[in-house]
Amino acid sequence: MNPAPAEIDVFSRPHSRIKRLVDSYSQKLSATDFSDYTALKSFLSSLRFTFKEFKTHENIENECIMEKLKNRLNYHKVMVEEVAEVHSDDCLGKMNKLVEDGWIRTDSCSHSRDEMALIGNQLADALRKFTDSFLPHMQEEEEIFQPLLMKYFTYDELKEIRGDVLRKHSLF
Ligand code: FEO
Repeated sequence: MNPAPAEIDVFSRPHSRIKRLVDSYSQKLSATDFSDYTALKSFLSSLRFTFKEFKTHENIENECIMEKLKNRLNYHKVMVEEVAEVHSDDCLGKMNKLVEDGWIRTDSCSHSRDEMALIGNQLADALRKFTDSFLPHMQEEEEIFQPLLMKYFTYDELKEIRGDVLRKHSLF
C-alpha cells in the first residue's frame, strides 16, 4: 500500500507524537521502582498528563474525522464495521480511570513499600495490556481508515480535515 501524500495524511503526525509518549512510558515502566513513593508518584503524574493527551487525541479524531467518515459512508450506504465501532470500547477512558484511581490511592505516603509495589504492578499490567491494543488501533487507523477517507473524500476536503486535526493538536 502506498503511503498517503503528506498533505492529506490525517493520522501520521498526531500518531508520531502519541507513539513517542508510548515509548516514553514504556521505558519508565521497566525502570521505575514502584515501591519507592517518589518514583511511583512521579510515574503516575506523567501518566496523568499522557492519558489526558491521548483522550484529547481521541476526541479530536471523533470530531474531525470519524463523524465525517461515518456520515459520508452512510450517505453512500456503505457499512464498514471498523468505522462503526471505532473508539466504542472506551479503552482510553478505562485506562485513564485506572491512572486517576492510582493517583488517589497514593495520595498519602503512609503506604508500605509492598502496598505501593502492588499498586504500581497492577497499573503496569493494565498499561501493558492497553498498549498491546492501542498500537494496533493506530495502525488500523493508518492502514484502513486513511484509505477509506481517500476513497470517499476529495483531496481538498482531506487537506481541510488534516488542517483541523493538526490545529486542534497544536501541531502547526
Ligand atoms: Fe489515533 Fe484513535 O487513535
